[in-house]
Amino acid sequence: MTEPRPQTIAYPSPGARAARQGLDSLAPHVIVLFGATGDLAKRKLLPGLAYLQQSSFAPDVRIIGTAMDELSTEQFRRLTQSAVASFGTHAMSEEARAQFDDRLTYVPQSAGPEGLTKAVAEAEALLGPEARRLHYLSVPPKAAQSVVTMLRDAGLVHNARVVMEKPFGEDLASAVRLNDFVHETFDESQIFRIDHFLGKEAAQNILAFRFANGLFEPIWNRNFIDHVQIDIPETLGLDQRANFYEATGAYKDMVVTHLMQVMAFVAMEPPTALEPRAISEEKNKVFRSMLPIRSNDVVRGQYGGYREEEGVARDSDTETFIALKVGIDNWRWAGVPFYLRTGKKMAEGMRIISIAFKEAPRTMFPAGSGVGQQGPDHLTFDLADASRVSLSFYGKRPGPGMRLEKLSMQFSTQETDQAGDVLEAYERLILDAMRGDHTLFTTAEGIESLWERSTPLLDDPPPVKNYPPGTWGPNAIHQLIAPNAWRLPFERAWREKRG
Ligand code: BG6
Repeated sequence: MTEPRPQTIAYPSPGARAARQGLDSLAPHVIVLFGATGDLAKRKLLPGLAYLQQSSFAPDVRIIGTAMDELSTEQFRRLTQSAVASFGTHAMSEEARAQFDDRLTYVPQSAGPEGLTKAVAEAEALLGPEARRLHYLSVPPKAAQSVVTMLRDAGLVHNARVVMEKPFGEDLASAVRLNDFVHETFDESQIFRIDHFLGKEAAQNILAFRFANGLFEPIWNRNFIDHVQIDIPETLGLDQRANFYEATGAYKDMVVTHLMQVMAFVAMEPPTALEPRAISEEKNKVFRSMLPIRSNDVVRGQYGGYREEEGVARDSDTETFIALKVGIDNWRWAGVPFYLRTGKKMAEGMRIISIAFKEAPRTMFPAGSGVGQQGPDHLTFDLADASRVSLSFYGKRPGPGMRLEKLSMQFSTQETDQAGDVLEAYERLILDAMRGDHTLFTTAEGIESLWERSTPLLDDPPPVKNYPPGTWGPNAIHQLIAPNAWRLPFERAWREKRG
């Protein structure tokens, strides 16, 4: 018998949760969190799991943290409490905190596969015979292979799903090797390659916006769209991640993963259904249609002072910034450039997708009317947790004559009653992995296509150009996008909720 195909679900408001639980009950889970003392675990995974447990979206869970650190369960519980207090995005009651605490155990890596087997068996005894296993590999790529081996040696492959963090390899050959290696132990249906950008409400809203409305899809192509920008500047620096970042850089950390995945949501054809196979198929077609990324279409940057940071080589060639022009050579998009940009220590932290429409003829307007002077009409998605969408257009300024200015229609989740229901990306994706729903996860094939298209750039990267921290990147970004211009910084601010 084949497993029933997972459905995408809408998450209800708190009042409707009880009803939903009956409809969609999940087996209890033992979650083994590798890298449990690391940065991602503290910032996102532990606070996210704590919220899932409190919200009752998640089934009964037991969490086994494991890492190189020699901690006791008590110490791990304290570390978790402080992570939830510092980084949790939802208020938690004392009672919920205490309940979450009880569900945590810690096993140091030095306890070996036997230690892990024993801890999982104890947790399963508490959860009952229905319990399933979810292994979350929040570890650097080099450690992922030894974790997979450990899981095999510990006999924890059966009845299990495994969530893997990016980057999945660092070029085509290593991605193929990694996928082959993991496939020796886990079946593809057990593997969940996480790209947390796809778990953002705003990213999923791109699909809703495009495919649930009749207004935009007919003009979503090269006849009406001039160019697209996916711009994700960050003000953050390295934090404690010099080791990871030095070996990775902005292209592998952000572009091959998050930016290109989001680009696929913008560019893909309508899938036959909002289910994993259909969506992956359409995303993979976008990746296969991408033109190879050439050095001439790329600006690599490094912020001033990067080489003096602890853990960074004095002659480091790692890019902390990247901007590039991507071509998608298919019937919908041929000739429409997609400009992607991201970097550390930039002027502002934003995550926008901006669709620029082709401009109208202007000759009928009197000289000095202002038509076209503030760029083309735009549709803009803000990928913040409280997502926003804006459509800008020219309108008449009130008063005599015909003076035009850029106006906008804006929507913000914050203005709705459901703002409190937004799930943080990791929360959503952990839940989906427990449900066995691959819809928002990436596939081996998709990742390999992206590395393949990246080969010319990886073989021959342009030299890194310096940019001062707090700016928008090296000057060459303007030549890259000419005759267009970067949308950021915005000329007009987003409107905030009134009253
Ligand atoms: C991570 C990258 O995957 O995404 C980080 O490794 C980056 O370098 C982060 O800062 C950005 O994610 P978000 O959700 O905070 O925008």
